[in-house]
Amino acid sequence: MPPLSDTSAPLDPAIALEAFRAAGEETRLRILGLLRECELTVSDLCRILGQSQPRVSRHLKVLVEADLIERHREGVWTVFSLARRSPAIRAVETALTAIQYQLITRYGDADRLHEITAEREMRARAYLQENADRWSAERALYVDEHGVEQAMLDVVGGAPIGTLIDLGTGGGRMLELFADRIEDGVGIDVSSEMLSYARTRLQGQRRLRVRLGDFFNLGDLARSADLAVMHQVLRFMSDPAAAIRAASRALLPNGRLLIVDFALHDRAELIERCGHARLGFSDADVETWLDASGMQLEDRRRLDPTDSSGEELPVSIWLARRLTAQPAASSRLPDAAGVAQIAHNRL
Ligand SMILES: C[S@@+](CC[C@H](N)C(=O)[O-])C[C@H]1O[C@@H](n2cnc3c(N)ncnc32)[C@H](O)[C@@H]1O
Repeated sequence: MPPLSDTSAPLDPAIALEAFRAAGEETRLRILGLLRECELTVSDLCRILGQSQPRVSRHLKVLVEADLIERHREGVWTVFSLARRSPAIRAVETALTAIQYQLITRYGDADRLHEITAEREMRARAYLQENADRWSAERALYVDEHGVEQAMLDVVGGAPIGTLIDLGTGGGRMLELFADRIEDGVGIDVSSEMLSYARTRLQGQRRLRVRLGDFFNLGDLARSADLAVMHQVLRFMSDPAAAIRAASRALLPNGRLLIVDFALHDRAELIERCGHARLGFSDADVETWLDASGMQLEDRRRLDPTDSSGEELPVSIWLARRLTAQPAASSRLPDAAGVAQIAHNRL
């Protein structure tokens, strides 16, 4: 997969010509300018551009066919974003940068875009508010969060990362944490409410995006990550071995998986109170599951609580490397355990 910022690679003039043809129309330029700001649905675009759905859809079709933008499904919605990996977008990127401000302010697009992002923010806030009690109970269990994040950064190291996939991204905190080390960051989550929150937080960070999706079925994200992260996700899985197997499918050969979760503990009430499926994990279990998924442990850390309240729980960090390529067929479909896990998650 070519790195996103590889502007030094030669660009095929035929691709550039097609890209300019498709982009060389005012509404389509406005759409490109808007999608540079954030992902939008057709109805968002109709509202901003003040044009009918058939018209906007026609423009979108031309841009998709020219590989300048891409679409993905999110429930009943189709969401459009810039095709950030495509050579076509590289061809028009410099021009877009130069005219971006005038482009999206000329017809008031920027103001209407702001209305839409403000509405998203309100929906995300309402969701957070509704879940605040559950989340503060969960947060009280963590050892010093800053310390855990610093340890994660240390374990992964300072070298540039390429593509990071955050599995169960929630509010997108892991994308934010690694933002300055990655070229491309994708967070996936099964909860569209969490993704609204993540989108609000990550707005304007062009290298970071989130997708509605299930990590047991990665689709075109399979075998694309230099680093996959599973932060505070594994303990909710009824079959953690299957979840680790699914995570390994996200990795390029030689890619790394970072798992962060509670170390073994005995607070059984958390199963009822916080919906945990497991009371933390032993190093031995995690190593066995990594090994069974074709990965080798490279580093691990443990952070123990420093306060005396007995409320906080120890956190473990495991970093593993995928040593071999995955069989292509298994990278697309969830296995039987994955299917069972999906059913479990939906209960
Ligand atoms: C406790 S949150 C952790 C969020 C995030 N990793 C963080 O550290 O802030 C767990 C997240 O995993 C998501 N999740 C659970 N099962 C999933 C699956 N099979 N595929 C994608 N996301 C999943 C949940 O929707 C939830 O947002």
